[in-house]
Amino acid sequence: MARKPFVGGNWKMNTDKASAVALAKGVAAAFSDTDAVDVAVFPPFPYLGYVAEALCEAGSQIKVGAQDVYTASNGAFTGEVSLDMLKDLGVGVVLTGHSERRHVIGETDADVNAKTLAALNAGFEVILCVGEQMEEREAGKTDAVNLGQTALGLAGVTAEQMAKVTIAYEPVWAIGTGLTATPQDAQAAHARIRSFLAHGLYSPEIADSVRIQYGGSMKPGNAPELIGQADIDGGLIGGASLKPADFAGILSAAAPGS
Ligand code: PGA
Repeated sequence: MARKPFVGGNWKMNTDKASAVALAKGVAAAFSDTDAVDVAVFPPFPYLGYVAEALCEAGSQIKVGAQDVYTASNGAFTGEVSLDMLKDLGVGVVLTGHSERRHVIGETDADVNAKTLAALNAGFEVILCVGEQMEEREAGKTDAVNLGQTALGLAGVTAEQMAKVTIAYEPVWAIGTGLTATPQDAQAAHARIRSFLAHGLYSPEIADSVRIQYGGSMKPGNAPELIGQADIDGGLIGGASLKPADFAGILSAAAPGS
């Protein structure tokens, strides 16, 4: 089946109010072919509403996503942001399990699973991020880590809910480092995850429909070869998503026939 490419721009803890709005407008102006590629941007929490408004004003179909979420819908959870609040701002997608949340903030697979389930049960789309660290890769554990994080992250997710799930394979050592997995290594990791969805967790039909993004120093220069691989269905972009021209270059590389 032809999977529609999906590219996300993870702005992380960057931008301020004015530059977030300018960046959103810049991306909307630089790329409008959302029939060819699904696009989402993930601004910091304080700017989600402004970015959603700017994209709406620009008439853009680019989706607004959140980099994280909390599981409860309201209550005494100081500092957290709920799915209801995100919905209120026009957010429809959330990232779960980003490596910085796993390895810098200390989220466990159980946290990632709880957030994934809460978001899906509330009708959100989810991008579940998985990926091995350098030591794990060197110890030959790449597939074990990816499949483990995939299984634990998706525990309890129904076959029906998989229609709203994207997986992002992001080797941790490639994130923000300028190092990129070779297209062949990335393809092998993606194929392994897809085959696990087909024969371990779900079914060949579901595996065939789930989009698996690559993330880790993707740039306009390396995007065509990476996204050209059979099992790579787009990207989750950090650094290069902060420059409209670079992000648009990656989006164009993801458009079918490019
Ligand atoms: P990068 O980040 O493109 O800056 O490597 C990717 C990510 O963290 O999603």
